Amino acid sequence: MRVIVGITGGIAAYKAPMLVRLLKKAGHEVQCVATEHALQFVTPLTLETVSGNRLYSDLFAPANDHTTEHISLKDWGDIMIVAPATANIIGKLTSGIGDDALSTLLLAFSRKPLYVCPAMNTQMWECPSVQRNVEFLRSMGVHIIGPAEGDLACGTQGAGRMVEPETIMECLSSDLSSPAKTELLKGQRILVTAGPTYERIDSVRFIGNYSSGKMGFALATALAEQGAEVELVTGPTALKIDHPHIHRTDVESAREMYTAATELFPQCCAAILSAAVADYRPESTADHKLKKNGNEGMTLTLVQNPDILATLGKMKTQEQKLIGFALETDNELANAKSKLERKNLDFIVLNSLRDKGAGFGVDTNRVTIISKDGKELTTPLLSKQEVAEQIVRHCLVGVGK
Ligand code: CTP
Repeated sequence: MRVIVGITGGIAAYKAPMLVRLLKKAGHEVQCVATEHALQFVTPLTLETVSGNRLYSDLFAPANDHTTEHISLKDWGDIMIVAPATANIIGKLTSGIGDDALSTLLLAFSRKPLYVCPAMNTQMWECPSVQRNVEFLRSMGVHIIGPAEGDLACGTQGAGRMVEPETIMECLSSDLSSPAKTELLKGQRILVTAGPTYERIDSVRFIGNYSSGKMGFALATALAEQGAEVELVTGPTALKIDHPHIHRTDVESAREMYTAATELFPQCCAAILSAAVADYRPESTADHKLKKNGNEGMTLTLVQNPDILATLGKMKTQEQKLIGFALETDNELANAKSKLERKNLDFIVLNSLRDKGAGFGVDTNRVTIISKDGKELTTPLLSKQEVAEQIVRHCLVGVGK
């Protein structure tokens, strides 16, 4: 692959040569484009040495092949990544400003994967205008990686660190191997559960939860893009999905989801259960609307629903893989690990509710994927689609083969 690495003027620019080295080591061709400010932190000689190519920085340099360098480079590159990306370059890309080699190239680089790794001081990152710009880029399909949290160069702590080059490589991996992308799970049947369940109280009321179904639908899409035949069993959601390899079954209650999932699982080589299943349902359901009848209070007796994940864990054969989700508020890792063991899973995906931008309803997520041999992988805050791609690549590549 031909990768363009854009570098802007933040202290994290010192990590850019490491990213370039990792890309080269993985067999990719790299061209670096740096802003003038970036070259205060990293030298042209370093970037040219690690990339093995001339650095582009000055839009009007006499050494340029011709005056429309940004046009020819955008045709050359298969994928582009800006690391680190300052608030300035994010603002320029959002507003359509091109006033140097990198910003003009970014405006011209369209319809190909573009990754942006923000790095800045926490207050700058949290500034509403920066957040608005980042959201706009996301809505344009730009992949935003990070920033990570931790010690910052300005002596403070918080969100704003550039994500480490190794993690950036993980995030890029699906696009860096895109020629094989549709082949990785070709023909493999995989079950996904998604959305909430509704447990009826009477003919007009139910017990539900805030799950939107976005994570499960993103997983179904990521699997189908890898060629899998997806059985998507979903609780009530407004989401639509239209893919020739996704077969959708709509259910309402946990018991309906249990029936559909246990019927389908034996025909599948793997299952990812991301649904937010109600643990309890009302003991009885009225077939009419319950009236107040002057009562001050009301007591609902709840009974436990079947645990779909634990049931599939018992049904699972040696060849099948089972992946569950955990949403924890206390002792997150310990609780997730014990759930993984208890339910006989291969992987558990721990959702963090502590992160702004992660959890119910939003388009982004940050997860930790824990395997049964105890290995952990924590993603940066990514779009749910990117998180889904990471889960699929990390947990399922090679399944059924
Ligand atoms: N799950 C399921 N069937 C249920 C409840 C949960 O399949 N009746 C699945 C979810 O889809 C998710 C995982 O189990 O993949 C975790 O659910 P969670 O409610 O967090 O775990 P519980 O086992 O119910 O544990 P607890 O409520 O004690 O946290």
